[in-house]
Amino acid sequence: MIRVENLSMRLGNFALTDVNLRVQRGEHSIILGPIGSGKTTLLKCIAGIYRPDSGRIEMDGEDVTELPPERRNIGYVPQDYRLFPHLTVSENISFGLRVRRSGNLEDRTRAMLDLVGLSDLSRQCIKCLSEGQKQLVALARALAIQPKVLLLDEPFTRLDSTAKVRLRRELRRIHEQTGVTIIHVTHDFEGSLNSRNRVAIMNDGRLVQDLSEIKKYLDEKLGYIPIDLRAGG
Ligand SMILES: Nc1ncnc2c1ncn2[C@@H]1O[C@H](COP(=O)(O)OP(=O)(O)OP(=O)(O)O)[C@@H](O)[C@H]1O
Ligand SMILES: [Mg+2]
Repeated sequence: MIRVENLSMRLGNFALTDVNLRVQRGEHSIILGPIGSGKTTLLKCIAGIYRPDSGRIEMDGEDVTELPPERRNIGYVPQDYRLFPHLTVSENISFGLRVRRSGNLEDRTRAMLDLVGLSDLSRQCIKCLSEGQKQLVALARALAIQPKVLLLDEPFTRLDSTAKVRLRRELRRIHEQTGVTIIHVTHDFEGSLNSRNRVAIMNDGRLVQDLSEIKKYLDEKLGYIPIDLRAGG
């Protein structure tokens, strides 16, 4: 479905180096990585906001590396949401549909409000929303255009622990309901590890996908005691 091949990009002193990634249709993949490791940079390349120095990005077998963001059929929820503060909840959600001059704008917006459970707040201004509600509006806006792929940049890190649990449940439901392919990046190692989704690690601009390397990395990060040592004692 999504294939990233040998992607490299330099940004000042930082470099995304030779990233290879494959994500199957309908999958919810999580890329974990510490602060500053290059997660947002990779998502921006996939979304078409950054143009990589080299490498290739394919969607459904089509080379999209040179396509602008609006021609990639990707829903992107940026790390800082980027909602439009002067527009209402509804107007934010329908924004992408208006830009694309979609015919079924009202029905689609209503369906999205329903999907994220914000129908009662449709006329509310963005400033009056909680962080969790803003996150849901950003999700609904990204999904409104019926993207093939949804890119989520740290969707839970600004939320308190109760909101995090609720949002994680909502996201699982939305994923089941829409079947959209998700690539989700976060530095929240503990908060994201319950999932049974596929996981890769971003470390200093490189993507680690080898299982034993991932295990070693997580053990070091989380300070787990390897189970065979405990058994010996
Ligand atoms: N426009 C830019 N110009 C120069 N360097 C940049 C630019 N954008 C990001 N960087 C640097 O690239 C590195 C990777 O940034 P990126 O935002 O991709 O990290 P991240 O993994 O998303 O981090 P976080 O967990 O804090 O969101 C960082 O060291 C950052 O300072
Ligand atoms: Mg980031």
